[in-house]
Amino acid sequence: MSGRKIAVLDLAPASEEFREQFIAGLAQMPRTLPSKFFYDEQGAALFLKICELPEYYITRTEMQILRDSGPKIADALGRQIELIGLGTGAGTKTRILLENLDSPIAYIPVDISKEQLTQSTAAFSQTFPTLEILPVCTDYLQPFELPTPIRVPSRKIVYFPGSTIGNLEPSAALTFLKKITTMVRPAGGGLLIGVDLKKSKTILERAYNDSSGVTAVFNLNLLVRANRELDADFDLEQWRHRAIYNEKAGRIEMHLISRINQSVGVGDHTFTFARGEHIISEFSYKYSPEDMIALADRAGMRFEKVWTDRHRLFGVFLFSLK
Ligand code: AVI
Repeated sequence: MSGRKIAVLDLAPASEEFREQFIAGLAQMPRTLPSKFFYDEQGAALFLKICELPEYYITRTEMQILRDSGPKIADALGRQIELIGLGTGAGTKTRILLENLDSPIAYIPVDISKEQLTQSTAAFSQTFPTLEILPVCTDYLQPFELPTPIRVPSRKIVYFPGSTIGNLEPSAALTFLKKITTMVRPAGGGLLIGVDLKKSKTILERAYNDSSGVTAVFNLNLLVRANRELDADFDLEQWRHRAIYNEKAGRIEMHLISRINQSVGVGDHTFTFARGEHIISEFSYKYSPEDMIALADRAGMRFEKVWTDRHRLFGVFLFSLK
């Protein structure tokens, strides 16, 4: 299968969704915008920069766990599996996993970024010439059909890295884990998931308020995107970024804070903000191993194993269908 040109199955959502959800999000109290809209072209590039920041230990630590425990993880997953990657983006982590796996039969990356899917698919088809790759461009939180590989796998495994589970409210996370159980049926199917673990407020707040201000630009880019795509008139000078760890709720809260009393137009709508008023732009929930195991249990998954780093910052968990 070398020299293959693999087409991306494009099921990407219409841009109207951004307008509707942005306006609805600003109209509610507390004002809350869905964090999935961070990832336009600039946002995706800024997120890659965040992943390299010294304070943002998440990506680096997950990669290290995959490198250190790759053979053990591959062993636990078994031979000839079908790997379904959800939100695997540029594929850096999946590459480490695939390099360790014994004769996987297919890889199905599912991601909202067509550009990253196209690039990673082209690169993977070179490195893994016998692997069937079936990329799907879609918002994996919405219903979609998975393609069927030519060969029958020993088991299906969903790989959900990056602690993206943390960006879902716990009830939505539970619903999503239940959906994953239907993706990996029949019995034997499993989930390999990267999860950021609970830790000190200091480490967490530093990771989301980095000293070079990249996370601030990433957060504010949501307003830049609204100005460009929704005919909004946010004055960037009058907004600032702040992330706080809400220990009780176990989550980082990213805020956009109004520096002054102001009115902002978004298309035909006008929103008024008082000085100091905030918009919630993201929640990033952190889990203890017990929290994660309990959540997966409620979704119908049995805990198999967890691999972690020596500081227990991050966990890569393996669950299988009950
Ligand atoms: C993608 N997601 C897991 C990141 C996180 O840590 O919640 C998004 C992010 N937001 C700010 N920094 C990184």
